[in-house]
Amino acid sequence: MLNNKKSTSHLYNRTASEWIRTQPISLSDFTARPFILELCEPVHELRVLDLGCGEGYCSRELSRRGAVQVHGIDISQGMIEAARLQELEEALEITYEIGCATNLKQFGNGEIDLIVAVFLFNYLTIDQTQECMKEVVRVLRPGGRFVFSIPHPSFPYMREAAYPFYFQVEERGYFSKRDQLFPGRIWKRDGSWLNVQLIHKTLEDYFNALKIAGFNTMPTLQELHVTSEHIALDESFFSPLLDLPLHLAIRVSK
Ligand SMILES: C[S@@+](CC[C@H](N)C(=O)[O-])C[C@H]1O[C@@H](n2cnc3c(N)ncnc32)[C@H](O)[C@@H]1O
Repeated sequence: MLNNKKSTSHLYNRTASEWIRTQPISLSDFTARPFILELCEPVHELRVLDLGCGEGYCSRELSRRGAVQVHGIDISQGMIEAARLQELEEALEITYEIGCATNLKQFGNGEIDLIVAVFLFNYLTIDQTQECMKEVVRVLRPGGRFVFSIPHPSFPYMREAAYPFYFQVEERGYFSKRDQLFPGRIWKRDGSWLNVQLIHKTLEDYFNALKIAGFNTMPTLQELHVTSEHIALDESFFSPLLDLPLHLAIRVSK
């Protein structure tokens, strides 16, 4: 059986210091996170849970945008230590704890207004994604929102393994390679890169998981990509990805 939770925490314990940032630096800090944070609005006065919070980049931004309470959970001890260090630098009263997104037993039913999961599900199998989304529905208050981003499921099959972002899948396998783990890499604008992973799932897998969990409202979906503003900012960095679907951002209400 795929021991993905162990390999994920090893990967992130090893690389936690490379993720620490106080401003946008990696590709998806430009092509994904600003759009995801906008999808979370309005966040003023909300109780927020950030699943797979990493070193806290999105937790901090949600707190600065006025969330009254932010909890971050991550499976990697190294990432949680990095997040707590950032909290010492800038005290936002965010609480961070080591935990697994498939079991949120520390939270009661309906006690959270907004749950976010920014590039968490590419580390979870189909079954784990379903478990996690069931917990999300349980912990969200009625009318609460769930906002998450994933690598666009088609992206790995549309591009070779090259700068500045890839997942190294076999040439074909969109349907046959579900639940298989592939390595990937995403670059920063300073020329360094972050090693990432993908447990491949189809679009149908994600929408089935939402349905099984009990979400029954129409989600808002954005296919995120390189824009003319990105090109104007740094053409050599962003242009290799022009016109490709990079990420999906999804918001759904309970
Ligand atoms: C690509 S990083 C993104 C971190 C953060 N959300 C951000 O946007 O900067 C993915 C994070 O998900 C965490 N993660 C993966 N599987 C997890 C699980 N089962 N439970 C909690 N966190 C998990 C990893 O440890 C890692 O910190």
